[in-house]
Amino acid sequence: MPDTSVAIVGSGPAGMLLSHLLDAGGVDNVVLERQSRQYVLDRIRAGVLEWGTVETLRDAGLGTRMDAEGHVHDSINIAWRGQDVLSIDTNRLLGKQMMAYGQTKIQEDLYDAGDVRGARMVFEADGVRLHDIDTDRPSVTFDAGAGTERITCDFIAGCDGFHGVSRESIPTSARTEYDKEYPFGWLGILSETPPLPILLYANHERGFALCSMRTPMLSRYYVQAPMTDTVDDWPDDRFWSELLARLPRSQSDRIVTGPSIEKSLAPLRSYVSEPMRWGSLFLAGDAAHIVPPTGAKGLNLAVSDVHYLSRAFIAHYSGDDRYLDRYSEMALRRVWGAARFSWWLTTLLHRFPHQTPFDQRAQEQELSHLAASEHAQRAFAEQYVGLPYE
Ligand code: APR
Ligand code: PHB
Repeated sequence: MPDTSVAIVGSGPAGMLLSHLLDAGGVDNVVLERQSRQYVLDRIRAGVLEWGTVETLRDAGLGTRMDAEGHVHDSINIAWRGQDVLSIDTNRLLGKQMMAYGQTKIQEDLYDAGDVRGARMVFEADGVRLHDIDTDRPSVTFDAGAGTERITCDFIAGCDGFHGVSRESIPTSARTEYDKEYPFGWLGILSETPPLPILLYANHERGFALCSMRTPMLSRYYVQAPMTDTVDDWPDDRFWSELLARLPRSQSDRIVTGPSIEKSLAPLRSYVSEPMRWGSLFLAGDAAHIVPPTGAKGLNLAVSDVHYLSRAFIAHYSGDDRYLDRYSEMALRRVWGAARFSWWLTTLLHRFPHQTPFDQRAQEQELSHLAASEHAQRAFAEQYVGLPYE
C-alpha cells in the first residue's frame, strides 16, 4: 500500500483546492509546501474571479466569506485616447458576472478549511524531489530534520507554480514549451482608499493603466512600467500622477489618492508547457502555464485545471479512467483559450517600444470597433467571464 493516493506539491490555490476537492471525494492526499504558511499568505496576487470559479468555490463549501465580502462586477470598462470609456456589460450581454475577491483571501479560506477537515499539510518542506514518475508507484522525498522523508503514492499533482520542481522533472524531450516575454511590467500598488466602483482598463499613449479593488477601503492600481525600473523609481507622487494622466478626466476626477501600503513591479509573460501529464505526474496551475495578468486569468485557470484534475482522480478510484486519460488535452483546450485572450488583450492595451503612430491608431480603431459592435463585445465578454468547463 502506498502512503497516500495523491501527493500534492505546492499549497497555493491550485494545491489547496485540489486537496479540498479530493478530501470531499474520499481520495487520500498529502500537501507539501516549500514555504511557511505565513509566507504564502503574505503574497499579493490578483483578484478577479470568473463566474465558473465562483461556482466551483461555492459548490466546494468555500463561498461563505467570498459571498459576504466579495464585490460583484457586472461590467468590464475600457478607456482609451484619454476620453472614451466603453462599458461592456457582461450581465446584460450574457447573464454572467465576475467577482472581485483577492487571491490572498481565497488562500486564507483554503487553509482555514484545511484546518477544519484535518488536511495533511507539510510546510517548509525543503528539497522536494519527485521519483519514478514514469511508473505507477511514484514517490516524493523531502528533507526532514536528520534525514530524508519519502512519501509513496499512486499519483503526484505538481501544483508548485512556475518556479517549482514538478515541471522540470519531466524529461525535456517529452515536453514542448511555448514562451513569450513582453517588453514591460506592471507596477502595482495597494492603498487604503476607496476604489472606483468599476474595474477599469486604460490604453493610453503614456502606457497601460488599471484600476481595481480588494475591499470598499482597499484599492489596487497598476501602471505599465519598464522592467529596467525599480520600485524606488516610483515614489507615490509619481505613481498617482502617472495613473491619473493615463485615465479620462471623468474617471481620474473620482480617484482618491493616499499612501501606498504595498508596491511591486511584476514582469508579463505568456508560457505553456505541454503535455500537462507525464506518467503518474499531473501538472496544474502556474506549474504548467503563465498568462500576463491583463485578462485576470491566472488564478481562474488554476481553478479550472483543478476542477478537471479532481474529477479525474475521483473517477479513477471508482474504476473510470476516462477523465484521467483526457486530463491534459481537456485542460489545455481551456488554457490555450485563456492564453490567446490574455495575449490579445495585452497587445491591444499596452504601449510597445518602437510603437509607431500607425500602431497606436490601429489599437484605437480596434477599441472603437469594440465600442460600436455588440458582436465584438459579446465575443470579448464570453472570453473575459470565462469559457465554460467541459
Ligand atoms: N516544493 C514545494 N512547494 C513548492 C516548490 C517546491 N519545490 N516550489 C514552489 N512551491 C510552492 C510555492 O511556494 C507556492 O506556495 O508551490 C506553490 C505554488 O503556488 P502559486 O504560485 O500560487 O501557483 P498556483 O497554485 O498554480 O496558483 C495559480 O494564479 O493569479 C495566478 O500566479 C497567480 O498564484 C497564482 C496562480
Ligand atoms: C487585480 O485586481 O489585481 C487585477 C484585476 C484585473 C486584472 C489583473 C489584476 O486583469
